[in-house]
Order: sequence, then C-alpha cells, then structure tokens
Amino acid sequence: MHIMRSQADAILVGIGTVLADDPKLTVNEKYAKVTKQPLRVVLDSKGRTPKKARVLEGGAKTLIVTDESCTKEFPGAEVLRVGKWRVDLAKLVKNLDARGIKNLFVEGGEGVLWSFLKEGIADELCVFVGSMIIGGTSSPTLAGGEGFSDIKKVRKLRLKECRKLGDGALLRYEVVK
Ligand SMILES: NC(=O)c1ccc[n+]([C@@H]2O[C@H](COP(=O)([O-])OP(=O)(O)OC[C@H]3O[C@@H](n4cnc5c(N)ncnc54)[C@H](OP(=O)(O)O)[C@@H]3O)[C@@H](O)[C@H]2O)c1
Repeated sequence: MHIMRSQADAILVGIGTVLADDPKLTVNEKYAKVTKQPLRVVLDSKGRTPKKARVLEGGAKTLIVTDESCTKEFPGAEVLRVGKWRVDLAKLVKNLDARGIKNLFVEGGEGVLWSFLKEGIADELCVFVGSMIIGGTSSPTLAGGEGFSDIKKVRKLRLKECRKLGDGALLRYEVVK
C-alpha cells in the first residue's frame, strides 16, 4: 500500500474512512521512498472532518473537498468546493488534473470506490486478498452504494496481473469502459 501511495500524485479517501480509521494518509518511508509526499484529498461534502484528524497533521498537503454550500475551513488545509449537494467527481478530477495530478490513488472506502466505478472515472482497480477471514454480515464491501441492478450495466474488469504477496495475492484489473 505504501508503494502504491508513493507512486501517486494524490491519495483520496472519503469522510467515512477519516471518521472510521483516522488515517494520516502519508507514505511511510520505512516501506517506500518518496521525493515528495502525495497530496491528501478528502471527499467531505458537509465539512465533517474533525479538526484533530490525522489527515490535517503536517507531513503532506491536504485538500478537503466539500459541496458548494459548505463554508467550513480547516487548519493547515486547502478547501475546494465543487458540487451542489455532494462532491462532483468529474469536476474534481478536472481540477486535480489542472494542478498536475495525473495519478490519483483512490484508497476507499466503499462508498467512494462505488462512485468512481459507477461514474466510469477509475482506470484501474487493485484488490489485495489477504490470508485471514474476518467475516461479519455488516463488513464493508469493495464497492458499496446502491449497486447495479441491471446486469447489462455492471462494471466489467479485465485482469492484468495476479501477484503473490506473502500469503496473499494482489489482483490488478483494468476497468473496461
Ligand atoms: N480495506 C481497505 O483498504 C479500506 C480502505 C479505506 C476504507 N476502508 C473502510 O471503508 C469504510 C468506510 O467506507 P464508507 O463507505 O463508510 O466511507 P467512504 O467511502 O470513505 O466515504 C463516503 C463518504 O464520502 C462522502 N462523499 C462526498 N462526495 C462523494 C461522492 N461523490 N461519492 C461518494 N462519497 C462521497 C460522503 O459523505 P458526505 O456526503 O458527508 O460528504 C460519503 O458518505 C471503513 O470501514 C473503512 O475502514 C477500508
């Protein structure tokens, strides 16, 4: 994961992940070298990121993305307001592209992964299958949201790579468009 982060220009998560896991979202140099820490991006329409969230700590720049009605500010972070009631992903990606962000690593969670896949914005999907069973009927899924009810509209994937990593496997897919 840290190698993948280190290869990205920006790392993006949703507010659900910030509230659940409080990640710092930086590359740990114990695992991967970086010349510059990637930009950290949080999708947070209503500005719910806690002031003490680790994603607001130093070490990398942070962009909090809200909808256009949100007026909140965050210490040490830039705020971008795009979208009427929720962050408009197409507009966000265009804005990031203009800033030179060409490789965006969307790290989750399930709601955000669903939106990127549903809107056809993601080019590649990586899944790490670990070697333990956690279980639980309420466990998060890979892509949440409402799901595709029409089988003709499902998002198709093409397997590009299957690599053994320890006792797990990393599956790298191209998202078919
Ligand atoms: N296994 C892993 O590698 C991994 C990685 C990351 C997270 N996770 C897990 O995933 C879970 C969190 O997933 P989650 O679905 O609750 O939260 P999430 O995907 O991190 O964030 C979803 C939230 O993002 C905001 N958002 C803003 N614009 C959006 C848009 N266009 N599309 C989608 N969301 C948008 C919405 O809240 P607002 O409307 O309030 O903005 C939405 O509720 C946690 O359990 C976490 O541990 C696992």
